[in-house]
Amino acid sequence: MLFLGATAAWLASCTLAASIVPRQNNDTDYKIGNITLDTPWTSTVGTNPWPEYPRPRLQRSYWKNLNGVWRYRNAAEGDLGSPPFGETLEDPVLVPFCLESALSGVTGKGPNGRIYSWYQTPLEIPSDWPSDNSVILNFGAVDYEATVFINGRNAAFHRGGYFEFSVDITPYLNANGTNELMVHVYDPTDQGRTQIPIGKQTLNRGGMIWYTPCSGIWQTVWLESVPSEHISKLDLSADMDGKVNVTVHSSTNSSTLVKVTIYEPHSQNVKATATGSSGTPFVFTVSDPDLWYPDSPTLYNITIKFGSDTVQSYTGFRTISRRAIGGVQRPLLNGKFIFPFGPLDQGFWPDGIYTPPSVEAMRFDLDVLKRVGINMVRKHIKVEPALYYKACDEMGFLVIQDMPSLRPDLPDKNGGCGIIRLEGPNEQAEFNRQLALLIEQLKSYPSIFAWTIYNEEWGQATSPPWPEYPLTDLVRSLDPTRLVNAVSGWTDHRAGDFDDNHHYSTPQCGTPFWSTQGSGPEGSDSAYDKSRIGLQGEFGGIGQYPPKGHSWYTDLNRQTSYELTNSTEDWNYRTHDLLNQLREQTDLFSCSGGVWTQTTDVEGEVNGLITYDRRIIRMNETLWKQDTTALYEAAARRSDTVNATQYAAIVDRSVDGIQVGMP
Ligand SMILES: *[C@@H]1O[C@H](CO)[C@@H](O)[C@H](O)[C@H]1NC(C)=O
Ligand SMILES: *[C@@H]1O[C@H](CO)[C@@H](O)[C@H](O)[C@H]1NC(C)=O
Ligand SMILES: *[C@@H]1O[C@H](CO)[C@@H](O)[C@H](O)[C@H]1NC(C)=O
Ligand SMILES: *[C@@H]1O[C@H](CO)[C@@H](O)[C@H](O)[C@H]1NC(C)=O
Ligand SMILES: *[C@@H]1O[C@H](CO)[C@@H](O)[C@H](O)[C@H]1NC(C)=O
Ligand SMILES: *[C@@H]1O[C@H](CO)[C@@H](O)[C@H](O)[C@H]1NC(C)=O
Ligand SMILES: *[C@@H]1O[C@H](CO)[C@@H](O)[C@H](O)[C@H]1NC(C)=O
Ligand SMILES: *[C@@H]1O[C@H](CO)[C@@H](O)[C@H](O)[C@H]1NC(C)=O
Ligand SMILES: *[C@@H]1O[C@H](CO)[C@@H](O)[C@H](O)[C@H]1NC(C)=O
Repeated sequence: MLFLGATAAWLASCTLAASIVPRQNNDTDYKIGNITLDTPWTSTVGTNPWPEYPRPRLQRSYWKNLNGVWRYRNAAEGDLGSPPFGETLEDPVLVPFCLESALSGVTGKGPNGRIYSWYQTPLEIPSDWPSDNSVILNFGAVDYEATVFINGRNAAFHRGGYFEFSVDITPYLNANGTNELMVHVYDPTDQGRTQIPIGKQTLNRGGMIWYTPCSGIWQTVWLESVPSEHISKLDLSADMDGKVNVTVHSSTNSSTLVKVTIYEPHSQNVKATATGSSGTPFVFTVSDPDLWYPDSPTLYNITIKFGSDTVQSYTGFRTISRRAIGGVQRPLLNGKFIFPFGPLDQGFWPDGIYTPPSVEAMRFDLDVLKRVGINMVRKHIKVEPALYYKACDEMGFLVIQDMPSLRPDLPDKNGGCGIIRLEGPNEQAEFNRQLALLIEQLKSYPSIFAWTIYNEEWGQATSPPWPEYPLTDLVRSLDPTRLVNAVSGWTDHRAGDFDDNHHYSTPQCGTPFWSTQGSGPEGSDSAYDKSRIGLQGEFGGIGQYPPKGHSWYTDLNRQTSYELTNSTEDWNYRTHDLLNQLREQTDLFSCSGGVWTQTTDVEGEVNGLITYDRRIIRMNETLWKQDTTALYEAAARRSDTVNATQYAAIVDRSVDGIQVGMP
């Protein structure tokens, strides 16, 4: 979380409007926009969406949710210089759904696209909030740049579409309690040569893997009341030896006494207490904690007292590391080889685009995955609301968190027919800055298992020095407790902890035969690099045309995948076949985990375990559960609790009658 008192240097200072008459909240004219495909939750959203407390790791008692119907105006370049203070903007918009979504009610309307936008809502500070406290305005995420005005005064600027930010608005508030909040948003996505972190968004939708963009406010907006000196950020980790490492950041940078109380799970009984000072990390040890595993994701509630500020938080005790077992580099959870297996999880929704219609909808996907024994999600070039990571902590998912990628390529600047991957040093510097924001925002969730810096070669420099080397060092310096996947797939220059292969549809995971698709000079057709962990970072992608009424496009030509089957039976035959190949590569070679493409269909990409509308589960869940169990059993056979003699007795080390040597 960042506190932004200063205004953007480039923004001309706005004159204070003489008299601003705050409007009343008015939801009478909101209705859901034209919807391409709905989900079981679309009709349950109403005008009070995402009412849950939005920041479970740093929770306080006085807060107010600002989600609901705001006013909206599509704007044009230059409009930031003349904000429409005091006017009532024409259109309703349902916050926190991005402007392109049907749930926003805007559904992309506007002559200039959603590149420039105005949002407006009244702010009333609850009368029971302590009057000497400060009022903080929090945004979960606004894509891409937000300029925040309170009562006609510029209060903050934030850049980065995936990251939370907070503004101390106390100096801008009216004494009589009614105020106007106005937000100007600029989101170019991939307009012209713009190259900013966008993940799978594009203004020019088309092809199999590019989807509708998301512009504007897309996560919860809320107010909280805090003592003027308060905790501004809390970093917390806890390991398998019971060591807890706490850093309390103070809003005033003071060094003040901090008291930590850890409770027994689901109990008021105190497990441990400790004290330290704000501003510097302090470490203490808790005896015999129950460790966090995907199968038993034990969490501990924590209370932190700092001056007159008290916050609730939580943690899980676990250690992530790697080492060689039988000559093969393995990822470890609490000192044991863990085989992370799960889907590429893109987090797109036909009704909310980047925002699930509700927390129940969000948890539905995870519930389905849990039922078939999946222990991991690769959160693909997107960042989710805090409640998603809390759900992963509670339900027991390892999260491989990708940095949202830059667009993968741009036309040759010199008018040639070639493409370049990175526009220039400014784009690289901004990517690096936002990568640090990602790590700082998510590093204290127990479920985070690994960080991915680059997806394939998207936005990666094409000549040395390879950026993933210093960026791997940066990530490790910000978070030494996780593994780093420097480049997931394709153009690998051997940085980081994983040698990650993307190969559709069949896996080639830690195998001596390894043909990376589209790989660069160093990576091309090489065998698996034994100094790192062999990961199948993407495979599968088996598709099937959804039944009529369950697809984003009606045109069959726009429904595609890496491989299409013609029936659910065929789909399950092929997925079983590929999971069995991954299992075999785990038994025979150096495969240490796999990422299946993907949780759900997304727009024209029809290869989900579940359809895009979440109404049909393609999986034969019994079969999938058997297959994931077989994967984990194969991994267990390769752990160091099994010696070579036992291993030989369990595994038939032959493929098609040919004996395969001990890896
Ligand atoms: C609410 O909006 C409707 C439709 O635009 C309008 O007719 C009505 O006057 C508004 N009410 C208030 C209190 O602003
Ligand atoms: C919905 O579709 C209809 C018919 O195509 C169109 O007239 C209307 O403007 C659309 N509404 C929105 C909010 O896009
Ligand atoms: C509240 O105070 C502001 C200035 O402090 C003023 O412009 C506004 O009219 C007042 N609103 C009401 C409802 O009194
Ligand atoms: C505690 O965490 C900080 C970073 O937040 C780190 O610099 C420090 O080394 C850690 N201390 C221990 C003993 O792990
Ligand atoms: C606290 O320290 C940070 C980093 O040095 C600085 O940016 C910030 O302005 C300081 N805040 C206060 C209130 O002094
Ligand atoms: C943490 O506290 C909340 C609120 O009291 C409670 O609902 C939850 O069950 C607790 N969780 C654990 C792991 O103790
Ligand atoms: C797929 O099914 C459709 C309708 O049942 C049939 O017309 C088509 O020939 C099938 N395609 C293949 C490749 O089997
Ligand atoms: C699902 O898989 C199980 C296990 O192989 C099998 O027994 C069952 O018949 C399958 N169900 C369907 C509907 O194909
Ligand atoms: C392997 O384990 C088996 C069963 O515990 C034991 O009998 C055997 O001596 C072990 N072999 C080696 C080489 O350690």
